[in-house]
Amino acid sequence: MIELRKITGDNIDDVIALDIGENQREFTELTNLRSIADAYVLNADGEPAIPLAIYADDVVVGFLMYTYDTMDHKSFKNEVFYRKMSYFIWYFMIDKSYQGKGYGKLAFEKMLMDIETMPHGEAEYVALFYHTRNVVAKTLYASLGFVDTGIIQDHSMLAIKNLVRK
Ligand SMILES: CC(C)(COP(=O)(O)OP(=O)(O)OC[C@H]1O[C@@H](n2cnc3c(N)ncnc32)[C@H](O)[C@@H]1OP(=O)(O)O)[C@@H](O)C(=O)NCCC(=O)NCCS
Repeated sequence: MIELRKITGDNIDDVIALDIGENQREFTELTNLRSIADAYVLNADGEPAIPLAIYADDVVVGFLMYTYDTMDHKSFKNEVFYRKMSYFIWYFMIDKSYQGKGYGKLAFEKMLMDIETMPHGEAEYVALFYHTRNVVAKTLYASLGFVDTGIIQDHSMLAIKNLVRK
């Protein structure tokens, strides 16, 4: 069974110890530790950031984090989503020893179901960036309804999905 749980004193060491494969480092500059630090800073600035541990049958296998923010980057200026609220997937990973078992997809679907309840406020979109060579991420996100916007920053594509309250 896949569950998303808060980061606590009981699981933070396990979450920080998770790692991606060497060949996946080109896809992201983030680590779990850095993301948890980012969450602390964002929350302190009043911008909701939600870091969560991914459990499979009570074992910590991955980490994800999303934020609730306005899509106000200047490169979005001519887009329909400019200045609209979105839930933004900051980071998402499954430890290298647990990849390819379906955990990533199940965890991501669970996170989307949580987001569809608009836990931190109304939003029209869910958005994320993925490295253009990250075929697994691209395939996974496309299978869940994310559409490429054509906006590429630092080799990463912005993909977006319309959000409907559940
Ligand atoms: C992306 C990541 C989280 C996927 O987690 P995972 O548990 O290995 O993925 P799953 O086993 O649930 O597979 C999910 C989907 O990925 C796609 N996928 C998996 N392996 C694939 C492969 N070798 N080639 C293409 N697509 C693949 C499929 O769409 C699959 O869904 P399906 O089984 O219904 O076809 C994991 O690979 C990871 O942590 N990568 C490193 C960090 C990263 O790149 N994060 C994303 C940042 S945008």
